[in-house]
This record gives sequence, C-alpha cells and structure tokens, in this order.
Amino acid sequence: MFCNLGMVKVYLRKTITYIMIIFSLETSCDETACAIVKYEKGVFSILSNVVSSQVKLHSRWGGVVPNLAAREHLKNILPVIEKSLRQSKIDFKKIDLISVTNGSGLIPALLIGTSAAKTLSYLWKKPLLGIHHIEGHIYANFIGNKKPLHLPGGEINRKWEKFPILCLIVSGGHTQLVLMKKHLDYKIIGQTLDDAVGEAFDKVARILNLGYPGGPVIAACAAKVQNSKFKIQNSVKLPRPMINSKDFNFSFSGLKTAVLYLTKKNKKMLSDKKFVNEVCYEFQQAVIDVLIAKTVKATKNYHPKTILLGGGVSANLELRRQLKKVIKKKFPKIIYHMPNIRYCGDNAAMIAIATFWRWKHKKNQVSFKQKIKNNWKKLETDANLKLK
Ligand code: KG4
Ligand code: ZN
Repeated sequence: MFCNLGMVKVYLRKTITYIMIIFSLETSCDETACAIVKYEKGVFSILSNVVSSQVKLHSRWGGVVPNLAAREHLKNILPVIEKSLRQSKIDFKKIDLISVTNGSGLIPALLIGTSAAKTLSYLWKKPLLGIHHIEGHIYANFIGNKKPLHLPGGEINRKWEKFPILCLIVSGGHTQLVLMKKHLDYKIIGQTLDDAVGEAFDKVARILNLGYPGGPVIAACAAKVQNSKFKIQNSVKLPRPMINSKDFNFSFSGLKTAVLYLTKKNKKMLSDKKFVNEVCYEFQQAVIDVLIAKTVKATKNYHPKTILLGGGVSANLELRRQLKKVIKKKFPKIIYHMPNIRYCGDNAAMIAIATFWRWKHKKNQVSFKQKIKNNWKKLETDANLKLK
C-alpha cells in the first residue's frame, strides 16, 4: 500500500499535542509560593497559585531579614504545597516536571525552596529544573490577561513574542535592561550600579516612617498629590540620577540620600502629611523619569520589536501608565506589554511558565534530559546567579 510518509509526519505534528503539568516553588525573598500549571494545546491553565507573604513579619524591621525569612519559609512551605495540590485537584503522580527558583535571591530563603523541591523530586521520581528568578519575572508576561487565571483556561499570551525584546526589570533586588534576541537568550545591557529601584522605594518609605514594603505606600501617598484638586506646588525637587549618562545603567542610592537630607533639614515636616505626600510624589516621578529615559535610549540603540516590563515595581500604576504612553507616542510600531498586576510580585506561576519555555527549547537534548533527572542531588543554589 502506498504511504506518503511526509504527509503522515505533518499530520502527526498537527494532531499530537502534549499535556504538561508543572509544579513550581519560589522562596527567593519573603514570599513562600507554590503553583501548579497545566499546558495543553497552546493554553496555560493556572490550576493553583498560592502565595504566603511575610510582609507583616518584616515590616517591623523595615526590610527583609534573611534568616527570619528562611525560618518563616520553613514553617510555611508544607502548608503552601498542600494547599496548592488541593486547589489544583491534581494527583502528584500526574506532575511531569518540578521546578524551583535556585537564584538569585537571599541564600537562606532560597535554600528552603530548593531543599523542598529536591526532596519532592526524589520522592515523586520527577525531573527537576532550577529557574532564575528574573527569568520568571520576564515570563510572567506570557500569562494572559483576559480570563480569571485562578480558573483553568487562562490563555497563553504570545502577542509579545516578537524578537528582539527589550525587558525593563524592576524589583526589590534588580533594576536591569535585558535584551532578548530569542527565547532564553539574555544580554544585560544596563543595570543599577547601587540600589535596586524597589530597594530605593523601601528605604525612602523607611526614612518617611511609612512602613514596609515601601512601593505600594509611596505610590498611594503620591496618588493623593496627583488626585488633589489643588495645583501641585512643586515645593520638593529631587535629582534624576544618571538620566543623561551615555550608558544604560542606573543609580538610585543618591536619590534615596537626597530624600534623607531633605527630611533632616525639615525634621518637623515629617509629621506634615502634605509634605510627606509631596516627597513621595517627587521621588516616584524621579524614578519613573529615569526608568523611561533609559528605556527610550536603549530602544533607540537596539531597535526592539517588543518592550516588556517585569518585577515587583511593575505593579506601580504610574510607571505602567507613563511608560505605555511614551512608547505609544515615540515608537508606535513597538509592542508594549506588562504582566497582569497579580503576577508582578513574586509568585510561583511565573516560575512555572519560564520552566515550560526552558523545557520546550531543550527537551530534545539528551544531556538536558539526563541533567534534570539527576537534579534532585545536583541542583545548586546561588544568591548571585547570573541571567545567561
Ligand atoms: O519582585 P518583587 O516582589 O521581589 C523581589 O524580587 O525583590 O519586588 C518587591 C519590590 C519591593 O521593593 C516593593 O516595595 C516593590 O517591589 N513594589 C512596588 C510596588 N509594589 C511593590 N514599588 C513601587 N510601586 C508599587 N506599587
Ligand atoms: Zn522578584
């Protein structure tokens, strides 16, 4: 009988679809997180996404205390895993792949997640993959916006998959401009020389006695000035560090120090809510001005087809709004995308999506398959893991 093998191959390629269930953990900072994500026929379903935040614990100290974070992760990791499995209604036997953030982050915190993931990989006899935290923040953009993602059926968002992609990563530990020529190919073209932008938000909030984390509370105070019926008085002026430097790097520690000197000069003013709100407004705007200026400069230099935002600070509504506006005006042909607000901060769903891409692009390499099988004994944790 005549059989056209070529046609059969094409037919098979079209009809064979795989289902993949990924179980991910994230404990790099002060969130204990576990997610179970299903991939089927081009659709990601976030079956569960449990995040246990330690914000209250660390707010006493005005920042994350690594050893306290580790102790809290240890207490929470099993209940978080159990809740995630329960919510997903998935039997562990159905899981195809386990992944965990193995860097960068706080080493005592990372060790809890990686130890749990290695133990489960050994017990459940599942392959294990280590994922870079920032890779997770970038791939959070793949989680679609349209459907409620706590329900199965959150669609995969491939709209931004046009390379080269320029990513602006803004979190508590990182401020980076990353260029991607293809999936999983990262070149850091600029980064902070001192404080990360989220760190600056947190430290300025501490100076202003606003508590921890600083980002949301500074944004809320700034919004009061913006929404005020009265004209902004502009009584507070802060610098825009490195805004005109020729490179794509950032610096935020000087800006933080400028706020410190300002409040030292006006100690009594710290109890004046209006003054504090104006400092917040001006600080936030200084940060946004620098982030936008550097993103525009990098865009002119590297000509990306897509610009992505990511990291905890990408939850900042003013940054989201102003960056979008500038890109639309200056580069109308470039696709701009930012993660759904609920996936901006640390979570394990973003780690699962990055895992899928890593697995998809490497699954046919024998060495990769062997490596992920043995990772339960070999996976290493690295606080300063490089994005490669
Ligand atoms: O990515 P993330 O959750 O953790 C790290 O990887 O560091 O980022 C946390 C940072 C904190 O510094 C927090 O103050 C900041 O994100 N953040 C914000 C906002 N929400 C969280 N910064 C500015 N505006 C916000 N709305
Ligand atoms: Zn993060």
